[in-house]
Amino acid sequence: MEKAKVAVIGSSSMDLVVTSTKRPNAGETVLGESFKTVPGGKGANQAVAAARVGADVHMIGCVGDDPYGAEILENFKRNGVNTDYVDRVTGVETGTAHITLAEGDNSIIVVKGANDGVTPDYVKESVALLRTCDLVMIQQEVPEETVVYAAELCKELGVPLLLNPAPARKISDEVINYASYITPNEHEGAVLFNGMELSDALQKFPGKLLVTEGAAGVRYHNGKSQVLVPAFPVQAVDTTGAGDTFNAAFGTAIAEGKGVEDSIRFANCAASFSVTGFGAQGGMPYRKDVDRRMEQSTKKSSN
Ligand code: RIB
Repeated sequence: MEKAKVAVIGSSSMDLVVTSTKRPNAGETVLGESFKTVPGGKGANQAVAAARVGADVHMIGCVGDDPYGAEILENFKRNGVNTDYVDRVTGVETGTAHITLAEGDNSIIVVKGANDGVTPDYVKESVALLRTCDLVMIQQEVPEETVVYAAELCKELGVPLLLNPAPARKISDEVINYASYITPNEHEGAVLFNGMELSDALQKFPGKLLVTEGAAGVRYHNGKSQVLVPAFPVQAVDTTGAGDTFNAAFGTAIAEGKGVEDSIRFANCAASFSVTGFGAQGGMPYRKDVDRRMEQSTKKSSN
């Protein structure tokens, strides 16, 4: 089968990860256990995950001309992500994410750095590529106007856009209408549909709005009723990057022509691997891993 062609417009960052048994309160100092730097950024994570689960992936992003930028480019290449549209911006630092893993969850501060270079004009340079893609993915660690531009452009080109509205910010009705799929978690959904019950929002956008609910699964409306597609139960080590893996696998499956519910199931399966490894990309699975677990679960449910 020919690979689905996917472009990711988004951030590429270095994750600076501290593990600790306790998260410090304001004004408090605690002793941590370990410190590691690993490639991250929601855009880069989605690009790497999509490549691992079988898509032909083209990253549209910016890094700085510093060692982190060089390491991120190397990592794209190792994972088979095309970097023709990844610019090294002179005199600007690569984006960084400062992550604390403590008390069973993460907290993250992102410093966007070179990711602010992913402007509408920068994206415009890749129009010839975008028009040949089966699907485009975008998140919100790039400037707000870039998300608006990408939504308008994809609408004009007739290419489906998967918008992962993370981190949370309000978006215009126009962007919501132009995107083909929108994948907030519950917190992001509440910001997005300010004042509206999520169940009403789901009903208003059947087959478009998918709300990720962590270990519970993913909720959407299939046009007749609300459906919760359950997550695959696993012991989580680090949930960083699980949402990115979900988005990448969902987008890949849709780009391959699968239906929404099958794509969610495939993506839930991929995300179940992601949480079992350290770092955003550490647990991201390859296609054969996902296919095998999907097969096992189909066998189990038919027995
Ligand atoms: O979604 C996880 C990502 O969010 C991390 O890799 C970090 O870079 C933050 O942007």
